[in-house]
Amino acid sequence: MKKTDNQALVIFGASGDLTERKLIPAVFNLFCGGFLPESYAVIGVSRSSFTDAAYRDKVVFNNEHLKSKPGATEENLKRFAKMVYYQAVDTKNTETYVQLKNRLEALDQEITTKSNYIFYLATPPSLYQTIANGLAENGLNNNENGWSRLIVEKPFGYDLASAKALNKGLLNSFSEEQIYRIDHYLGKETVQNMFVTRFANSIFEPLWNRNYIHRIEITAAEHVGVEKRGGYYDSSGALRDMIQNHLFQLVALVAMEPPVRPDAESIRNEKLKVFQSLRAYSDQDIKENVIRGQYLNSTVRGESISGYREEEGVNDQSKTETYVAMKFFIDNWRWADVPFYIRTGKSMPTRVTEVVIHFKPNHHHLFAHDSSLSNQQNVLVIRIQPNEGILLKFDMKIPGAGFNTEQVNMDFKYDELSNVYVPDAYERLILDCMQGDATLYARGDSTEAAWEFIDPILKAWEKDDSIPVYGYPAGTWGPENADNLIEGENMNWRYPCSNLTDDGNYCEL
Ligand code: BG6
Repeated sequence: MKKTDNQALVIFGASGDLTERKLIPAVFNLFCGGFLPESYAVIGVSRSSFTDAAYRDKVVFNNEHLKSKPGATEENLKRFAKMVYYQAVDTKNTETYVQLKNRLEALDQEITTKSNYIFYLATPPSLYQTIANGLAENGLNNNENGWSRLIVEKPFGYDLASAKALNKGLLNSFSEEQIYRIDHYLGKETVQNMFVTRFANSIFEPLWNRNYIHRIEITAAEHVGVEKRGGYYDSSGALRDMIQNHLFQLVALVAMEPPVRPDAESIRNEKLKVFQSLRAYSDQDIKENVIRGQYLNSTVRGESISGYREEEGVNDQSKTETYVAMKFFIDNWRWADVPFYIRTGKSMPTRVTEVVIHFKPNHHHLFAHDSSLSNQQNVLVIRIQPNEGILLKFDMKIPGAGFNTEQVNMDFKYDELSNVYVPDAYERLILDCMQGDATLYARGDSTEAAWEFIDPILKAWEKDDSIPVYGYPAGTWGPENADNLIEGENMNWRYPCSNLTDDGNYCEL
């Protein structure tokens, strides 16, 4: 196990939802698993005034998201709460950073955190740069006595120009090695396993290219709508919220070349090359290859589901997309002319994220005359969530006379591994940052490269009103037009069920 230095985690945005829902529970799990160093502190920072005790009540003792954790015994909660502190900071007022600095120095003395700090920016993005500057002006960015790292939450930029400006601004105060751009999809165990499936086995990689793969499909469907986040979402939309970051990280892991070594720089170099190889869209390509949609109210099994425009915080004339499906190409030696189809949407029939590799059919249809089902494509499904696992579909002989074949499933599911603890994404990512490992964080150059591809779509949607936003009834698989993206006879999206192997039907609700 890698060594973890004594350190403190300073969370800006301490009274926000992310802190309570994800960050504190992740650190608590690390505490229960024995992953925290001997001296450790969490310092919540925001504008509100809390005493340490009041903040502990809020994020530990009264935190609904902690109570459900297996380790949440009274004893553990009490021991954990002692590591949690609070410091009020008005992020726009330089003077208050001095108070933060004094508090951190006092904690260094009290519990020997050794001047090692992670600053976690869980605030609105408009404050990222202000906070980074405020820290730097007070010497909290330096790596001389201890070390200092900055975790930046998504969204990283609103478009290409703002992402570039943010990178440039942060680099005035922190070096690239100190900046950890978080994408929680990279913290998911099944996402990391894609890398291992490809590069630890000799059977997949020789086939993993244009000679054997017909197309690649990625779906990230959510059952929920925008919930209470309408205000944020309405100025974001699915392209910014899911595609530019989470889905493109999946694309990079599926498409990258083998890295020289399994370390942060080698892996991130290869991912960057994928983004650089994306075939740029013309305005016409955007119209033909990118479908956007928005969910409409509907009634499912007698229950009425709100449409997007009726959600709290959403403009009732909004054209913001809650669904995107797109087809694109990666112009390099491995993937030339292999179509990639990706889609994401809210208010879909089920919550499911998966990567589907469709192999080309075999060249000679030996059994075609005996079975209508023969010569189907082999398919490898990498299920990211839920019912995490891998499924391979291949043809087998139906017992009896002749050579009739049928496609069968061979599958592995994570829940079959008893006694294996699968850490939550934030838990894994925070621990990596604590140990100085940026492998599962996005690098500045590749964030910009992903934006380069996405930006023209945003611009085209902005300037061309004739590009439709298709409505789809809440609880369905999105606009039917998305089916036309996939070329070829009998070719369609896979319609997955929440259960990995229970497929082939137009499942759920
Ligand atoms: C977040 C998006 O980054 O990812 C949300 O802002 C989305 O809109 C969420 O719901 C999905 O994450 P997961 O882990 O539930 O697939």
